[in-house]
Amino acid sequence: MQKDIEKILLSREAIAERVRELGEQISRDYQGKNLLVVGILKGALVFMADLVRQINIPVRLDFMVVSSYGSSSETSGVVRILKDLDMSVEGWHVLLVEDIIDTGLTLKYLRDNLLARGPESVKICALLDKPARRRVEVQADYCGFTIPDAFVVGYGLDYAEKYRNLPDLCVLKPEAWQK
Ligand code: IMP
Ligand code: MG
Repeated sequence: MQKDIEKILLSREAIAERVRELGEQISRDYQGKNLLVVGILKGALVFMADLVRQINIPVRLDFMVVSSYGSSSETSGVVRILKDLDMSVEGWHVLLVEDIIDTGLTLKYLRDNLLARGPESVKICALLDKPARRRVEVQADYCGFTIPDAFVVGYGLDYAEKYRNLPDLCVLKPEAWQK
């Protein structure tokens, strides 16, 4: 796995420090509110597990599994919900947790979909933002890092379902893409 890695873009230490800051900010902003943290699987798994442990107010957790049609490194804009929330969002402030905002198509679809269900609010927390590739208007209310337009893996992010378990966020070698 390591031989496919070009470089480490964000070390586990740098990520941990930023996740701590995000957790503090979220804890302050949602004080006294019913906070429902919704993880978008599978990419958000690692980030969400770390993030919620840095939030010091009560939270509920739920998950959605989505898939976009298309190849593994290009999104098509058509989002399918493969697993929906277990609970109703009425009365809850929803915080959508995602690994990365790339074209923005996935999060725009999910945000609009959840807003239509009548929650108190819907906000977005993304570990990474790649603004260079945005195709629709959507912004993270909480963003870990803005990164350049490179394909990154690790810390939950995959290429063709591989590399999610790398502890650091890494850039793949071009050869690993073409395999
Ligand atoms: P969007 O709908 O284009 O914003 O795509 C978001 C999804 O594309 C993310 O949840 C990832 O699964 C995937 N994605 C986009 N860029 C990368 C990347 O650099 N590495 C791994 N996955 C990515
Ligand atoms: Mg994903």
